[in-house]
Amino acid sequence: MDQEEPRNGDSTHNHHGLLHVSKKPKLALPISEPEIRDEFSHHQTGVARINNGSFGSCPKSVLAAQRKWQLKFLEQPDDFYFNTLRNGILKSRTVIKGLINADDVDEISLVDNATTAAAIVLQQIGRGFAERKFNQNDTVVMLHCAFQAVKKSIQAYVTRAGGSVVEVQLPFPLASEEEIIREFKEGLAKGKENGKRIRLAIIDHITSMPCVVIPVRKLVKICREEGVDQVFVDAAHAIGSVKIDVKEIGADFYVSNLHKWFFCPPAVAFLYCRNSKFSPDMHHPVVSHEFGKGLPVESAWIGTRDYSSQLVVPSVLEFVNRFEGGIEGIMKRNHEQVLKMGRMLAESWGTNLGSPSEMCAGMVMVGLPSRLKIMSEEDALKLRGHLRVYFGVEVPIHYLAPKEDDEGGARDKDGIISGYARISHQVYNTSEDYEKFRIAVLHLVEEKKICKLLSTE
Ligand SMILES: Cc1ncc(COP(=O)(O)O)c(C=O)c1O
Repeated sequence: MDQEEPRNGDSTHNHHGLLHVSKKPKLALPISEPEIRDEFSHHQTGVARINNGSFGSCPKSVLAAQRKWQLKFLEQPDDFYFNTLRNGILKSRTVIKGLINADDVDEISLVDNATTAAAIVLQQIGRGFAERKFNQNDTVVMLHCAFQAVKKSIQAYVTRAGGSVVEVQLPFPLASEEEIIREFKEGLAKGKENGKRIRLAIIDHITSMPCVVIPVRKLVKICREEGVDQVFVDAAHAIGSVKIDVKEIGADFYVSNLHKWFFCPPAVAFLYCRNSKFSPDMHHPVVSHEFGKGLPVESAWIGTRDYSSQLVVPSVLEFVNRFEGGIEGIMKRNHEQVLKMGRMLAESWGTNLGSPSEMCAGMVMVGLPSRLKIMSEEDALKLRGHLRVYFGVEVPIHYLAPKEDDEGGARDKDGIISGYARISHQVYNTSEDYEKFRIAVLHLVEEKKICKLLSTE
């Protein structure tokens, strides 16, 4: 596997034996539609899977590469452990370094997922409170719609140790990034009230629900100007859906799942930690033999387990380079297609999109007809379950609680829009998937169905 021939001349070894990653793929013949269908032929048929955002997707050729790694381990585990594993992980880290413009491969660690990366960052902050390096009540600032698992991690590691939290409300639906910047600045001011110090700001690059591309570079810059100690960008959805330049973004820590939009099998994420005085205190939550040797090495051995998803990153690069424009081409087409499909749905239902096109990547929020009466989180979940079971459509639904003053909300001809669907587009999607969704919703509206009464079995 180590010596596998590179395809399309995209990733090659130079005369020092180091992996060289060319960002510009040399394309022989772009992948054809039937080949794409074959790569994803393990997907359940009959399901309009317009939710790549939740769990991503992995093509057959990458699964085959993963299987080879698994067998290589089982054939001779000791040799694999001593001679193959670490070098294989280093190659994957080197690919990532090239893709995100990091300075040094030692700034990149591979971990299971964004949740693990959040634990690494937040445990470091928690230790600052527990060891009394920080004053009690110093703060962590984050977006109100930060991922639930990250919010729970703050409770577990930071608030318990004495830190306080300021949540910044994300306005939605949105017309411009200025609205976010304004709210964020207010959040920082609140975080600094009464002489408190902001020890950490957590900024999503692409929020999960509702999905919005956040002006992360501008917010990091504001954090620096306002004297925030450390900045963590939760970019779980970023790699494979937006261009990443970690130097330009300028955060201390930046995590992205590789299993969401970068075609890796679950579970693998990279955590970038900018070389800084904080680096020696970054530790994997699972302590093993390599503790104290730096996060990338600690993370590369956390006990006996399957490391294959971390080893297939070069194979993923081969896969994406079969597409015109490589991963950047895929990103561009997904963005264009998801917008086109989103606009088509909004027009047919007489609703709206949740944010302007430049604040979307491969996912878009589409308003649902108010006649469906989505009045709670439970209603949203019911509609999602109903669409899956009765219509074969997999799409997450967001409930948007109406504001008291009704300000900023969107309306359709029958009332306030209180529910949005988050649609994704990935290379395996076709316009029929969205058409199926469009018709399902129109059918429910015509039948005068309201969410509370929908069945999910
Ligand atoms: C913004 C954000 N952060 C963190 C996560 C957690 O990712 P994982 O479940 O892979 O740890 C997600 C998952 O959707 C997310 O959207």
